[in-house]
Amino acid sequence: MKSTVIGLGLESSCDETAAAVVENGRLIRSNVISSQIDLHREYYGVVPEIASRAHLEAINTLIARALDGAGIGFKDLDYVAATNRPGLVGSLLIALQSAKVISYAVGIPLIAMNHIEAHLYAPFLEGRDPSYPFIGLLVSGGNTALYQVRGIGDMELLGKSADDAAGEVLDKIAKYMDLGYPGGPAIERQARNAARKDVLFPKILPGSGDFRFSFSGIKTAAINYLKTHPGADPSEVAYGFQERVLEILVRRTIAAARGRGISVIVVAGGVAANSRLRELLAAGLRRGETLVIPSPALCTDNAAMVAGAGYRYFVNGGSDPLSVDVHAKS
Ligand code: KG4
Repeated sequence: MKSTVIGLGLESSCDETAAAVVENGRLIRSNVISSQIDLHREYYGVVPEIASRAHLEAINTLIARALDGAGIGFKDLDYVAATNRPGLVGSLLIALQSAKVISYAVGIPLIAMNHIEAHLYAPFLEGRDPSYPFIGLLVSGGNTALYQVRGIGDMELLGKSADDAAGEVLDKIAKYMDLGYPGGPAIERQARNAARKDVLFPKILPGSGDFRFSFSGIKTAAINYLKTHPGADPSEVAYGFQERVLEILVRRTIAAARGRGISVIVVAGGVAANSRLRELLAAGLRRGETLVIPSPALCTDNAAMVAGAGYRYFVNGGSDPLSVDVHAKS
């Protein structure tokens, strides 16, 4: 094995097109992202057909920028990794097909990556290696799920949302309140201004050993509250709603760690950028328990995490055939 292994990562599972060059699965040599937020804003959510067209328009330029930024060419690559699951099928195809072409033309292995596994790899790119096994909470606009992670390629799903993802309910309530898109950061900003902190929504207590999530009840409660309290201060409603959504995440995650006797927790995905979530998780920990959350830029979708996690497969001799397909679910 060469002492320097260079990988290109590509990501287009939802509304970010991204390309990154990572050295030895750790050093980010370049990391470029084209966000489609402006294209989807008027719809308050990601429109799949618009997303896949925008990925197609952006991907070649992003690949060129990632290679330029790293000061390398295609011939310097040792492998190419792309997300192939879970996500929007038409969107996933853009990065995966591009990676297949590069793999074939350059003659390097293709690694098809699980987006969730890539998210949970992000701390390794910042030198904050969580020790295995750890409890991984992936919390984004498309997914809310808890895993026990024993190593690369060895993740056990403990529970996921039975209905909306956490980011999705934040986006939906922000839309209902006309706070803007994406809703998570909009609600977080509003919540910071709340003078009173007593607008409360139903408390959902986890049953012991049940690590599933549900957010639709609390979403309905918030909508009913807003209908019956037309003069409510938006910042106070945002605070109450955000607090309950985060409480569900925190309680389930800590219960899973303690239930499994695991002391390391990794939280990743767009909602992990929320500073109140970081605060509540840190406050809930006991001595000896460790919390690892990537910096906000590596919490949201990016391709460095795809190239990084792909490296682990590459060094173990992993590669996928050009016939590998995309999948909406993980
Ligand atoms: O991981 P991500 O970039 O994309 C996927 O959904 O795959 O996550 C986007 C989600 C959106 O629902 C957005 O509202 C939420 O993450 N989000 C946040 C914050 N920043 C992004 N939610 C709460 N607080 C934030 N600061």
